Formats: sequence, structure tokens, C-alpha cells
Amino acid sequence: MKKRVSLFLLIGDPVEGSLSPPIHNSAFKALRIPAVYVAMKIPPHRLASALKHIRSLGVRGFNVTIPHKVAIIDLLDKLDRSASLVEAVNTVVNRRGVLTGYNTDGDGALLALQERIGSVKGMRALVLGAGGAARAIVSSLVGHGCDVTVANRTLSRAEALASIIRQKLNKEIGVISLQKGELARELKRSNLLINATSVGMHPNTGRTLVTAGLMHPELTVMDIVYKPRKTRLLKEAEKAGCTTIDGLGMLVHQAALSFKIWTRRTPPLRVMRRAAEKTMEEFG
Ligand code: ATR
Repeated sequence: MKKRVSLFLLIGDPVEGSLSPPIHNSAFKALRIPAVYVAMKIPPHRLASALKHIRSLGVRGFNVTIPHKVAIIDLLDKLDRSASLVEAVNTVVNRRGVLTGYNTDGDGALLALQERIGSVKGMRALVLGAGGAARAIVSSLVGHGCDVTVANRTLSRAEALASIIRQKLNKEIGVISLQKGELARELKRSNLLINATSVGMHPNTGRTLVTAGLMHPELTVMDIVYKPRKTRLLKEAEKAGCTTIDGLGMLVHQAALSFKIWTRRTPPLRVMRRAAEKTMEEFG
């Protein structure tokens, strides 16, 4: 008899154009795991009923994306520390009917960084943004011994992030605005700059919060935006002679960490990255 096929999902709104289905399906295929991964558009008012169906259908695991990363928390049975730390979930595993939420965004970003520049311990990072993605990234950086300052358009949100880090990790982070003088001062003493906002994302590809004039060659610049792969920020960083890391690395690593949580298998990273690249080449 054939093995039963396991079902994995992405739930969000919108989900069109997501790279997660090709990334995970390529990994299942490479490891000969009988499973499929499907993206489902679930509007906010359907989230609770979707969770009931997920439970009754025995879905083995799922990813959660915008706008459900926070709202899903109340509908789950347990939270891993990775999710409770940042109060947002991007991965859920169903173990014998118990739904546990995780967050792999922060460690995905960290792995993408480590892959290129090694340990971040003792580095001084400026993170742009204070939303869900920034929260996850900042917690992982601070947890790995990085000195972090956050710059955000809405200062109160950056201050709220600093207070979360103080309460949960007992560490202090700096908070600044996006004003040029403040960015310049901070960047002079930083060796890592991470854009954790959506600025520069397709179709607003001409935008960047930092230009080459504020950068220096000892700076590593990472963008979490992966569409386009070479964002305006990364072009500016190249101009300034910086090391650059595009958003595909974080995307693939956060997916690989989810895959590991679901399957307990070593994710085929190269296969997953190739699937993401191929899909981007085909569909832009
Ligand atoms: P996510 O969960 O993807 O991080 P989010 O919580 O909506 O999404 O956060 C988006 C981040 O991008 C925020 O830091 C936001 O700044 P505000 O807190 O001031 O809203 C930032 N952002 C989005 N558009 C921006 C823009 N045009 N200029 C500056 N920052 C922007």
C-alpha cells in the first residue's frame, strides 16, 4: 500500500507569488518525503474557521504570513520560545493534534548572515524597522551577542521593541529616528546594516532609507526584501564597497528551519535555494 501523503500549508492574504510552495515541494521531492505544500489565501475573518479545518484534516504543519502572524497566537495550543519572544508566529507544527507555534524569521536571517560573514558576536548592527520582521531579527542578533540599534520611522514602535528586548532578554538596544544625521552618526560606528522594512520592495524599487554616502567599506549590508534581489539599498552598498547579502538567503533559511521542525530531517538547502531562484527567474 502507498504511504499517506502529508499536507503542509501556507496561510496568509495575499499568498499569490509566494516562493514557499516551490521551496518546500522541492525539498520533499529531494528527500522522497510523501508530502505536498499548498498556499491558501485566508482572509482575517476566516482565520478561526480555517484553524478548525486544519485540525480536523490533520494538516501536519503550516506557515503563517501577513496578516496572521500575531492573530494566530490565540488559536494555537502552545508557543515555542522563538515565537513567544517576538510575539509572532510564522511556523506551526501539528503533533498529535497539539498545534505549537514557532518563529524562524530571526534565526533564518542570522543563518543567512553567518553563512557569509561568520559569527555576529561583538558586531555593532543598525536595524532599520521595528515591525514583526525587525522584532524577530533583533531578538536573534541580541541573543547572539550583537550590539543593536534600531532606527524606525515611528519612534514609539522602536521604543516598544527596545522595551520587549529589555524585558525578555534583559539587554539594552539603542533607538534612533530615520533622520539623516542620526543615521550617519550610527552607521559610522556600525559594521552591520540590516533593512527589515518593506522599503525598496517591488514595485517601489527606487526607494531606500540609506544611500552610499552614509556607508563605508567595512559595513556588511543585508536586505530582507528579495523582490527585486538587488534592491536599491544593495546597489548603494555596492557603490560604497560594502559586503552585500540579499533577501533570498533569509527566505531560504527560514523555510529550511520550518522544514526541520516539521520533518526532523536535515533540509536540502541547496535544492531549496535553487527552487527559489528558479521560480524568481521564471515568474519575476
Ligand atoms: P513586518 O511584519 O513585515 O515587519 P510591519 O509590522 O508592518 O511588517 O512593519 C513594517 C516596517 O517597515 C515598520 O518598521 C515600518 O515603519 P513604521 O513602524 O513607522 O510604520 C517600516 N516601513 C514601511 N514603509 C515605510 C516607509 N515608507 N518608510 C519608512 N519605514 C517604512
